[in-house]
Amino acid sequence: MNQAFKTYETVNDSVRLQYEESVLYVTVLEGDIVHVSQKAGIHSYAIEDADRVKILQPEVSQGSAPCRVRIAAGNMEVQVKDNEKLDIFYRGKLLVSDYEEERKKPEKNPYEDLTLAQLEGHAVEEGTDRKDAVMILKKLGKEDAIYGLGDKPGCLNKRGYSYINWNTDDPDPHVDSFKSLYKSIPFFMVLGDNFCYGLLADNTYKTTFDFGCENEAYYFVEHQKGCLDYYVIPGEDPKAVVHSYTMLTGTTPLQQRWIYGNHQSRWSYFTQEEVEALAEEFEKRDIPCDVIHMDIDYMQGYRVFTFDDQKYPNVQKLSQKLAAKGIKLITIIDPGVKKDPGYFMYDEGLELDAFAKDEQGEVYVNTVWPGDAVFPDFTQEKVRDWWADKTKVLTDHGIRGIWNDMNEPASFHGPLPDSVKFAEGNHDEIHNIYGHLMAKATYEGLLAQDGGRRPFVLTRAAYAGSQKYCGGWTGDNHSIWPHIMLSLEQICNLSLSGMAMCGSDIGGFGSDTTPELLIRFYEAAVFAPFFRNHSAMGTHRQEPWQFGAQTEEIIRKVIKLRYRFLPYLYDLARECEMTGAPIVRPLVYGYPQDKTVRNIADEYMLGDFVLVAPVTEPGKTARAVYLPQGDWYAYDTNEKYTGGRYILADAPLDQIPIFIKAGAIIPVAEGNFHSTEDITEDNIQMLTYPGEGRFVHYEDDNETLAYREGVYNATEYILHGTTLTKKILHEGYKRSI
Ligand code: GLC
Repeated sequence: MNQAFKTYETVNDSVRLQYEESVLYVTVLEGDIVHVSQKAGIHSYAIEDADRVKILQPEVSQGSAPCRVRIAAGNMEVQVKDNEKLDIFYRGKLLVSDYEEERKKPEKNPYEDLTLAQLEGHAVEEGTDRKDAVMILKKLGKEDAIYGLGDKPGCLNKRGYSYINWNTDDPDPHVDSFKSLYKSIPFFMVLGDNFCYGLLADNTYKTTFDFGCENEAYYFVEHQKGCLDYYVIPGEDPKAVVHSYTMLTGTTPLQQRWIYGNHQSRWSYFTQEEVEALAEEFEKRDIPCDVIHMDIDYMQGYRVFTFDDQKYPNVQKLSQKLAAKGIKLITIIDPGVKKDPGYFMYDEGLELDAFAKDEQGEVYVNTVWPGDAVFPDFTQEKVRDWWADKTKVLTDHGIRGIWNDMNEPASFHGPLPDSVKFAEGNHDEIHNIYGHLMAKATYEGLLAQDGGRRPFVLTRAAYAGSQKYCGGWTGDNHSIWPHIMLSLEQICNLSLSGMAMCGSDIGGFGSDTTPELLIRFYEAAVFAPFFRNHSAMGTHRQEPWQFGAQTEEIIRKVIKLRYRFLPYLYDLARECEMTGAPIVRPLVYGYPQDKTVRNIADEYMLGDFVLVAPVTEPGKTARAVYLPQGDWYAYDTNEKYTGGRYILADAPLDQIPIFIKAGAIIPVAEGNFHSTEDITEDNIQMLTYPGEGRFVHYEDDNETLAYREGVYNATEYILHGTTLTKKILHEGYKRSI
């Protein structure tokens, strides 16, 4: 197909490029983001209030061959060639070019691998028609590393691998060769020697990402259908890229402080008494706990927004009793509504015309936990509003957060056919944003119903931008050693993909855990933003005390360590909302030019100051730890190390190798706490490590959104050598006495 460039015109500061047989719009947005699309304007599920995104006025001029037109705006220049090929420059340096040679033909249909996967015991869809596919095909440098793409399993650095964005619930142990998992976040970052940029491929259809797997000279993103619609997001380093990406799609908001505490869950705690007894156990054993999760068995026959009045006769009373211990309740809510005439959700939904339909226009039915179930069409605002209103059923019972599960959407009788109809498209277009829209509805419900508190929604499925509404957990991992490593890779890549509030099931969900594995799982997760022990029915119980006193003692110590660092974590979470800087980061985030760290995922940073190097294998009592450049102090011994090298760190079962950067200023909570409610500003002290450092400590009511109206205090701390000085930056919150 001849795609010779013909002409251009500027329409509302977008440059419309006319080729012989196609059209592309190139627009430079604030933050030097280059938007390339086959459609004019921003049409995105990831970007809320697209009108707020400012467009930079372009200067368009003739180029010299092979460049036909140059588009310059801000720090960007886009050189347009024939065949829709673009060279994108940032601050005068070439950032990324389209690949212009013939693509090496794939030996197999890249979608076929999906047939290996199972959905809750059912094979997923086979093969995919590629006749309508659209593709981004760009050059890849020999040493470029690639990060992001949400929860995809496998190495931190995705270079050399291929993946598919198609929300997938697969109960088998997740391994590196899985192409898809629950989340479909079409954002990744390319890090080269002297450059870095992110790419958001904003198309919701099934999409293949091939990062130099087919051919190391290029990467491609292939959407099964729909339009080419992507954003190139440049930055000097990963930090700048994550910042710009989250300014575009939204940052992870600060949560109520208790959300960063210890969560306990199991599928299921079957009765109200069991939950009460559990809370007492935590108190009695002096293990801090802030949250208990109620899985599907609290419902009446798995009917969402109901309580089983036999097993959970008085949830209001339960939540009050628990509140006295500082413990809150979170309940699971799945999207599938039981097909059950007489059940209010089913009847009201039918009345509202709220459910997805089949090709014949009948309400589409598949099977999930409640048996035959129908699927709310969250693409409709009226349906999201209806769902949001139902949140009141839970908040009226004292429920303080909502856990959205099965929202890929998962279905037991085979996948939903592509042709299932939602108001804004067929299932093949909506599948990857179904969980995103459900989370949005849930978020809006809590915002309206929960008395001005910061909404907490936890989701399994997500799309780009979901971080505005929800945190994410990594679904059904297993109690196996490789899944400790997997959790670190996933948490780091989710964090680089904007979803900073994330974590994996501690101890592993499926399979039976062992005492050593449980301890190491807890240790690895010690500073994960979302910290929850969760396990499946029928597996060995894994509450902290299930393996005797010695195991319990070590887990208690890990949890208490987390509570000690909780003020630091909270401050980082506040910073994250403002700047997009993730709470937990892979080493490459802070040290992108150190090639040694580009593939390291068995160590992570909590903010700029704390490096955690957990043990991820059985039987180990020491491990190699890479310390990036600079001076570091071992947390346990205070011994000083010079970085830029590997050291061997002691790691007996009860010890997590933690290193603190010289110049660190870390607010820590001193004391014995049962829950985060016991932590007050009076408990907080500044831990410092000699060097040069700066840190801003926040204080607010830990619960409401008033901080967004200025009701907070911010104090800047500066460390010179060993001298710490402070300056009040903002004083808007008065402590209640
Ligand atoms: C799914 C969830 C899991 C939950 C179970 C029962 O497998 O991923 O966390 O416990 O459903 O609701």
